[in-house]
Parts: sequence; C-alpha cells; structure tokens
Amino acid sequence: MPDIDPWGDVEIGNYKQKMEKFGIDPIEEVEDRLPDHRFIRRNIVFGHRDLDTLLDARDEGEEFAMMTGIMPSGIFHFGHKCVVDQIKMYQQMGAQVTIAAADIEAYNTRDMSLEEARELVIEEYLKNYAALGIDLENVDFYFQSKAGNDHLMRSKLFSRYLTQNQVEATYGSAEPGKIASALTQYADILRPQFEENGGKKPTVVPVGLDQDPHIRLTRDVASKFKDQDFMKPSSTYNKFMRGLQGGKMSSSDPKSYIALTDDIEDAKQKIDEAKTGGRDTLEEHREKGAKLSEDMVFELLTFHLVKDDKELARIKEEYSSGEMLSGEIKQIAKQKLEEFLTDHQEKRREKAPEVEQYIEENFDFET
Ligand code: TRP
Repeated sequence: MPDIDPWGDVEIGNYKQKMEKFGIDPIEEVEDRLPDHRFIRRNIVFGHRDLDTLLDARDEGEEFAMMTGIMPSGIFHFGHKCVVDQIKMYQQMGAQVTIAAADIEAYNTRDMSLEEARELVIEEYLKNYAALGIDLENVDFYFQSKAGNDHLMRSKLFSRYLTQNQVEATYGSAEPGKIASALTQYADILRPQFEENGGKKPTVVPVGLDQDPHIRLTRDVASKFKDQDFMKPSSTYNKFMRGLQGGKMSSSDPKSYIALTDDIEDAKQKIDEAKTGGRDTLEEHREKGAKLSEDMVFELLTFHLVKDDKELARIKEEYSSGEMLSGEIKQIAKQKLEEFLTDHQEKRREKAPEVEQYIEENFDFET
C-alpha cells in the first residue's frame, strides 16, 4: 500500500515522519517571508515545497498564482474553512487565484452524478466561500467538466510522462477512475501556467498531506512535458482539524463537525458534547490541569475562533494549569461560535443571490 491515499481516510498525525520521507520542508524556513497569519504562527500550515521560488517572484514584482480544488463531499464545515482562509491570504499577497470544482473527480470516485456534484459545489461551497470574503469575479473559477477542450486535452497528453509503476507506487492502484481524476488534477494545478493564462509562473497549491501524491506527480509531469515549459508547482501543507469527538472530522458524521450553516443552538450543543482534555474529577483537574492535545474545543479555538495570540495563550495557560474548567472553555467557545455563525449566516444570505447570478452568467450546464 502507498503511504498516502488521496481518496482514502484522512490520517491524522505523524506529520514529521511523512515530511522527512517525502522531502517536505518545515514552514519555519520561510516563515519570516510570509504574512503574519495565525495558521503560520500556530504551525497549522506546517510544511512546504519550493515556496521560496514563489516568494522570490513576489519580491521581484513578478506574477505568481495560487491554485486549489473543491471536492464536493457534503456539508461545508470548519475543516473546509482552512482552505478559504489560505486563499484569502495569498490573494492579499497579490496572487492570481484559480479554483477548480472537482465534479469529474466526484463523479469518478464518489459515485455522484455531475448534477449532484455541481449542486453541492454551489450551495455548500461557493455560497460559503462568498460569505467568507472570496469574490468570485476576481478568481478563475471553473468546473472540471467545463474546463474547456485545451485543459482536458492536456490532461490526456500528460499520461505519456508517467509509467504504470510510478502510478501504482504513488497511489497504490491504477484504477481507471482514479487515474482519470488524477490526470485532470494535474491539469488543474498547471492551469495558471497555460499559455492562455499568461504562461509559466510560480504557483502554490495549499493542501492537506493526503493530496501530496498529486503534487509529486504534477511536479514530475511539469518537468517532462514537451509542448510547453512549466515551473514545478510549489505547495504548502496544513494539519487536519480533528472531529469534535476526537478522531477524524467527516462529512458523513454530523457530530464530528460544526457546519457553517448549522443552527446556532445545535452548534452549541455539539460543543457541549465535544471531547475535552478535562480530568475525571474536579480535584484531579485542579491538580493536573487539562490535557490540551486531547481537547477538541481548544483545537477549534486554535484553528478558527481565537484570532488573537495573547488571548489564546491566556486560555492555554489557565486551562492547562487547572484554573479553567472544561465547562468554562466550552462557554468561551460557544460564545465565540455564536458570534461567528450569526455574522456568517447573515453574510451568506446576502451573497447567495450574487453567487446564483454568477453561475447563471458564466456556466451553461445544458451542453
Ligand atoms: N482532489 C482534491 C480533493 O480531493 C480536489 C482537487 C481537484 C484539487 N483539483 C485540485 C485540489 C487541484 C488541489 C488542486 O480535495
């Protein structure tokens, strides 16, 4: 079996070992060249490949791009918000932004119809993206199935540069549906560099470690492709937020996540039922303090709900020393969550018609 399966379960932890094995560099190396973002400061984005090249281009005032893809897997939750926050960061840095909706991949690997996939992309992803501050008019957004002939043609030409051994060693299988999706993804990743999009340029793809096999093979194909000169894409890697009950966060288990469209009372109840690192008895808790690494409420605060480092440090100190109780950290989380969701859901209502109009004007699904 391969060490990482992009279509399989998301594995948590063991980041160090995988970084060494696959040659991913620690983000600390380039930290002082990056914006002051909580994901970087808190090591949530922990690794990269070749980000220096992109940062050099930025420093020289040259063009650079950021590319990512949306896999329509279900309800949009806080786990998905990580990508959006990174898109915003690169956009503020001046990157051209490209976003692919992976409807072909969903069709081939998730047994979804193209219509279902598109509907999920629009309702769950784009409307939430817009509410979170992504302006679709400022990005190259497309559906894989509507990517255009040149895009899809290249995805086929890329096959010539791969061997069966390489594909099997990287993905553990050479199932046709997976290979077709993988090849489409290489074209997605190289799209910002297509001649019609201004040609060769540094491109960063922020992903979770599960997508690294695609990054590796795209880099390989980019260096071998004969018909056009490509730069090898750069990448960054973010940690996965764990589910509220510990273990993985999964769209198929509503108790494991808080959706950005969850009813506020339901969302608060999920916090109440979340796994914490609090001790069994009050006495033990006061004495030993909470186990922060096993506390999913603290994890949610760290990833999304507390932006200010000082405030987070204070919570960390009080909770891990036993001064703060699990009920108290939950209270903090519920209050922040309510504020965030109220604001977000209002923005989503506001932006929804714009998204629908944008889709109407830009895509024709009849053909
Ligand atoms: N395979 C990705 C996923 O499962 C989705 C995707 C499609 C993607 N094309 C991409 C991600 C290009 C990054 C870059 O989430």
